[in-house]
Amino acid sequence: MKTQYYTASSLDGFIATEDDSLEWLFPLADLNDSSYPDFIAEVGALAMGSATYEWIIRNAEKVAAETGSSWPYTQPVWVFTSRVLQAAEGSDITFVKGDVRQVHNEMRVAAGAKNIWIVGGGDLAGQFYDEGLLDELIVQIGSVTLGRGKQVFPRRVLSPILRLVSVRQMGVGMVELRYDIDREE
Ligand SMILES: NC(=O)c1ccc[n+]([C@@H]2O[C@H](COP(=O)([O-])OP(=O)(O)OC[C@H]3O[C@@H](n4cnc5c(N)ncnc54)[C@H](OP(=O)(O)O)[C@@H]3O)[C@@H](O)[C@H]2O)c1
Repeated sequence: MKTQYYTASSLDGFIATEDDSLEWLFPLADLNDSSYPDFIAEVGALAMGSATYEWIIRNAEKVAAETGSSWPYTQPVWVFTSRVLQAAEGSDITFVKGDVRQVHNEMRVAAGAKNIWIVGGGDLAGQFYDEGLLDELIVQIGSVTLGRGKQVFPRRVLSPILRLVSVRQMGVGMVELRYDIDREE
């Protein structure tokens, strides 16, 4: 069972524009031709920040067209927010705030033998990394640059370095890099 940050980024390191648009992402690859179907089949619990959650709610039609359902996850989801938000219809959502460690314990129980997916954003993944709870970084790098936007992983990781374990090309529009995250000695 691993805790994975699986995401798509522009070549210059952004997962969304400053105003939370993902329009740049969709033309780059078809979800069903990517690693996503195999990846999600092994996920038992998800965590996301409120901006990511609200993107899914705002883009329900697009999400339904891509995944077949306006709320795309059958697994339990923990949404981090300091505000009071409504759970999407058909979802299994727990709204949480603050320290990620307690939430990670709850997610681990829910996930059982499966993996925990930190959906994003980058700082939330960083909060799990800061506590030594992140095992893998899996990033699809699109063949585009955005110039500005929401950073893929706003942390400094120098020692130990991320350990590259695989590289997979998806046509001309994307490459997937998988890294193991080693703990400090
Ligand atoms: N390219 C991709 O594959 C991909 C993947 C994931 C997301 N995205 C997109 O990237 C953007 C990410 O946005 P973002 O960087 O702003 O990140 P985000 O993590 O989705 O949302 C950040 C917000 O989450 C809440 N939050 C985070 N940590 C918290 C904590 N410990 N306790 C309580 N609340 C906490 C705070 O909002 P409150 O004001 O609610 O407290 C914070 O402002 C979104 O547009 C999303 O759709 C893209």
